[in-house]
Amino acid sequence: MKTSHLRATPSVPSAQPAGPVAAEAADLLRQLAAEGHLSAEAAQRRTGEITAELAATGGYWQSDLELLQGARIAWRNNPQCIGKFYWKGLDVWDCREVGVGGCDESGLFEVLVEHLRLAWNGGKVRLLLTAFTPAEPGTPGPRVWNGQLIRYAGYRRHDGSVLGDPETVEFTEAVLRMGWRGRGTEYDVLPLVVQWPGREPRWFELPADAVPEVRISHPDHPWFEGLGLRWHAFPTISDQVLELGGLRYTLAPFSAWYTCTEIGARNLSDTNRYDKLPEVARGMGLDTSRDRTLWRDRALLELTAAVLHSYDQAGVSIIDHHFATKQFVRHEEREQKHGRGCPADWSAIVPATSGSTTPIWQRRYEPTRERPNFTPHPVPWAADSSGSGAVADR
Ligand code: ARG
Repeated sequence: MKTSHLRATPSVPSAQPAGPVAAEAADLLRQLAAEGHLSAEAAQRRTGEITAELAATGGYWQSDLELLQGARIAWRNNPQCIGKFYWKGLDVWDCREVGVGGCDESGLFEVLVEHLRLAWNGGKVRLLLTAFTPAEPGTPGPRVWNGQLIRYAGYRRHDGSVLGDPETVEFTEAVLRMGWRGRGTEYDVLPLVVQWPGREPRWFELPADAVPEVRISHPDHPWFEGLGLRWHAFPTISDQVLELGGLRYTLAPFSAWYTCTEIGARNLSDTNRYDKLPEVARGMGLDTSRDRTLWRDRALLELTAAVLHSYDQAGVSIIDHHFATKQFVRHEEREQKHGRGCPADWSAIVPATSGSTTPIWQRRYEPTRERPNFTPHPVPWAADSSGSGAVADR
């Protein structure tokens, strides 16, 4: 077993009793044994080791197996995700020792860039979670301020309108205050804001080769490309804490491929996002004077078809919502065979278009909260220092 870096911080044990962490670690080990990853005796032995390590140091170092299988189960337990069919395919890159002791944000940044390159994999997107050092019990850990590692800036103009992605207006304002200057286009890639607990956050510009994007064109409408729409190749969620066996991995970016509706029927079309349906409809020559012409619906479908087509043409992994929902139901059935439920939030997993044409529509789900799991970070620029301590040391 590796030596825990927590041994270097003797102040921790008094900060929090080991009880709840030990109990959660024991739960995790029981679960791993129940799923056949180790014998009941080995699980018990390991639980004893962890309890002793907790008593001595206030923390513990998870084994590679605990981290990998635990992260997979956390994904499986997450009620928001339609893609859980692939939970066993998640890879974990173990970067728990990066930056520890050195406290250098640029070291974390380098790894985050490498994470993007690994996940991109030339277009065959990998399911990849990178685990950085977990937070010591009762303290904040390292984090990034970004909701995703790759996202576009949203600049609020004087008249209240937004250039770029309205979703990131507050983040963009925060990085502008920190001295970042964007180019002022509709698709400016935001810098990463990296923060170690107890230190000022630092921002870093992502290198272009770590930010693959896809230009959106339509299989039948040559004019479509002229709209200048684009999106980043894959999402990398970076504002969720992986809560695993009593430890909190506060920096654990998670990459996967897209479902086409996320881009076509949400990011580029929501009225409080890029709001591109009117432009698409005009290109299609639709009558946009009345809702009853269903111009939005027609434009939405063609935009989503364009997204799927463009990613396919560019050789970038993406799935459609029909395939995704069928896989989800297969996952659900497989879980049932293993005697497990399938925690899900119906409103989160039902696709943004054509919901009723998918098998999810008729089914009912319980968004049961099971552990391990992912929980969202509080927004860093709004949080106070009282609760989770996300920016306790701002
Ligand atoms: N909906 C988010 C986005 O459009 C990404 C959420 C995760 N999606 C995924 N396919 N893993 O960027």
